[in-house]
Amino acid sequence: MIAIPKRIGILTGGGDCPGLNAVIRAVVKSAEMHGIETVGILDGYFGLIKNLTKPLMVDQVSGIQVLGGTILGSSNKDDPFHFVELSEKGLPQTSDQSGQAIQTCKTHGLEALIVLGGDGTMTVADKLAAKGLKVIGVPKTIDNDLMGTYTTFGFDTAVGIASESIDRLHTTAASHGRIIVVEVMGRSAGWIALASGVASGAHAILIPEIPFELEHLAAVVRSRKVRGRRSTIIVVGEGAKPRGGEVVVSRIVENSPEAIRLGGIGKVVADGLETLTGIEARAVVLGHVVRGGSPSAHDRNLATRLGIKAVDMVLQGEFGRMAAVAQGGLSSVPLSEVGGKVRFIPSDDSLLQAARKLGISFGDAAY
Ligand code: F6P
Repeated sequence: MIAIPKRIGILTGGGDCPGLNAVIRAVVKSAEMHGIETVGILDGYFGLIKNLTKPLMVDQVSGIQVLGGTILGSSNKDDPFHFVELSEKGLPQTSDQSGQAIQTCKTHGLEALIVLGGDGTMTVADKLAAKGLKVIGVPKTIDNDLMGTYTTFGFDTAVGIASESIDRLHTTAASHGRIIVVEVMGRSAGWIALASGVASGAHAILIPEIPFELEHLAAVVRSRKVRGRRSTIIVVGEGAKPRGGEVVVSRIVENSPEAIRLGGIGKVVADGLETLTGIEARAVVLGHVVRGGSPSAHDRNLATRLGIKAVDMVLQGEFGRMAAVAQGGLSSVPLSEVGGKVRFIPSDDSLLQAARKLGISFGDAAY
C-alpha cells in the first residue's frame, strides 16, 4: 500500500507551450481531491534552485486551461547540473546546483515533483531521479518530437496557428505573383512544417528528415509558372537543410540543455529561389507566434488528461517515469528513454505519404 503524499510540487521547464496551464489546473484539482497540496515552482529549474515557489489552490487555477503560456513561468536555459551564474567579478561561473534543487523540495516537504517539459527538461528530471528525487514527467512541446510519447499537447495549436497564417499568405503571394517561403519552428523534426503545409495547401514542404535541393524547388516554381500558376508557397521547418549542407543556426544559448537555436533557412531558400528563377521571393518567419496564445480544445483536453495521469502516477508511486500518449490511451515510460533523443517523421508516415501522392514537393526529386 503506497502512502498518499501530503504535498507535491510542479514546475514547467523549457520553451512554453499551449496547454501547460491546463496541466497545472488538472494537477492541482485532482491532487486536492486526494487531499494533496500542490506547490508551484516558479521559472522552471531556476526556481527549483533558487527556492522560488508559490502555493497553488483550486481557486487560483480555475479557468486557466484557456490561457496560453504558463502561470508558473518557465526557463529553457537553466540546468541544475551545469548552473551558470555571474561571479562577483561579473564572470560566468558554472556549478552543480542539483543538491540545492533537491533541497528546495525538502524545504517545502514535497514528496513528489511533477515536471512539465520537453527533451532537455526530461534529461534533467532523469538525473534528479537518479539522485533520489521522486520525479514524474509530463511531456510538452509544440515540436511533437519527444521520444516515448505518440504526441504532445501544444502541437495541435501550433499547427492550427501556422495553417491559418499560411492560408493568409496564399492570397498575398497570388496577388503579387511571388514565391513565399514560410519558416516554422520544430527544431530538427518537421512535424509542424508537414502538418501545417499539407493543411494549408503548400506547394512544397521542406523538412529536416528529407534534405532538399534548391534546383528541384526552382523546377517546381518554373513548372507552376508554365501551368499559369502565379505564386508558390513553400513551408520550411527551421531544421531543414540542403543535401550535403548544414542547418542554419540563429544563436547559441550557452549552458541551455539544448544550446542551439535554429532559424534563417527560410531566407536562404527564398533568396536562392529568386536568383534561380528570377521570380520575386519573400521569406516569412512565423517563429514564436505559433506557440503563443490560447490552446486548441484538443490540446486543452490532452493536457488535462496528462495532468490527471501524472497525479495518478503519484498515487501509484510510479516515479522516474514520464506520462505518455500511447496508441489508444495514456501510458508511462521511463524518463531514461526520453531525454537526448528526437522522434523524427518516419518515411512511412501516412501524412507524408499522402502529401507526396498529392504532388507536394519535398525538394528531394525533380518535380
Ligand atoms: O522546442 C520548442 C521551440 O519553440 C522550438 O520549436 C524552437 O526551435 C525553440 O523552442 C525556440 O526556443 P527559444 O524560445 O529559446 O527561442
